[in-house]
Amino acid sequence: MTRVLVLNGPNLGRLGVREPEIYGHATLADLEKAAGEWGAGLDLDVEVRQTDDEGTLIGWLHEAVDTRSHVVLNPAAFTHYSYGMRDAAAQVSEAGLTLVEVHLSNPATRESFRHLSVVAGVATGTIAGFGFEGYRLALEAVASRVG
Ligand code: DQA
Repeated sequence: MTRVLVLNGPNLGRLGVREPEIYGHATLADLEKAAGEWGAGLDLDVEVRQTDDEGTLIGWLHEAVDTRSHVVLNPAAFTHYSYGMRDAAAQVSEAGLTLVEVHLSNPATRESFRHLSVVAGVATGTIAGFGFEGYRLALEAVASRVG
């Protein structure tokens, strides 16, 4: 079965309590459950992970390359400045795997420091502004590209 790692960066473990007016009231556990169900419906083996640590996230991107796993990535604040993560993400798309950048909010409508994504240029595509729905759309994109 096609494997997809759904990787989430810093502070996304705080979903539900962190700025709910921006990120909503649902938790990471809710996302995990929903993503598993969406994946099952799309014939994808989905694993949701979250870390506040840049090196851990980079290691997971390496793992995606080595295990031929597609990636749905919400890099959170790393989006805007982590060249190390960007270089790891580039290895995923260069390996011919789909890498979908996802944001719950639409960073383009927020503070100017959020307008730059260092990941966008190496992602297969980006989905932003649709809340949890964005992860479902990203999984559908992966499924349609492998199908
Ligand atoms: C985010 C947007 C980022 O700017 C922010 O740092 C996050 C979450 C989003 O999902 O909307 O932590 O990636």
